[in-house]
Amino acid sequence: MKAHPVIAVVAMAAAAAVSTIKFASAATMQEPAGKTAYEENCRKCHGVRGVPPKTMKAKYEKIPTFNAAFFDAHSEDSVVKVLIKGKGENMKSFKTKLTQQEMVDVAKYIRSFAGAEK
Ligand code: HEC
Repeated sequence: MKAHPVIAVVAMAAAAAVSTIKFASAATMQEPAGKTAYEENCRKCHGVRGVPPKTMKAKYEKIPTFNAAFFDAHSEDSVVKVLIKGKGENMKSFKTKLTQQEMVDVAKYIRSFAGAEK
């Protein structure tokens, strides 16, 4: 049986699309600023994409989820302030661990979890 021409064209288009995606992701391989600092300092409590793991939710009942609603209420500056000063008993100050620039980068990076750019 011969391959149906329409199917063949669709298959070729799909293959082309896949290779374009691969190419695009290779070009943007560079990690966003703030990602490494987040993974090293925050992920354990706040989760890979800002959703705290159940164990952390259980341990720290006030721990927030970094979603659009969170960022509507918290500006980038307010996040940096929390990183400098800490909050409550368990959200420690990071002023001796991170530079000012790293705090700004982390504050920007966590906003990407919600797709918020504000
Ligand atoms: C030991 C666990 C832990 C680690 C590590 C941690 N956090 Fe938190 N974080 C918390 C808890 C608990 C709260 C809730 C504090 C409260 O409201 O009392 C919190 C709250 C926050 C808030 C919300 C503050 C607000 O204004 O309500 C932000 C933003 C935040 N953390 C960012 C970070 C970032 C960025 C890092 C890494 C540099 C980090 N956290 C590391 C436990 C942690």
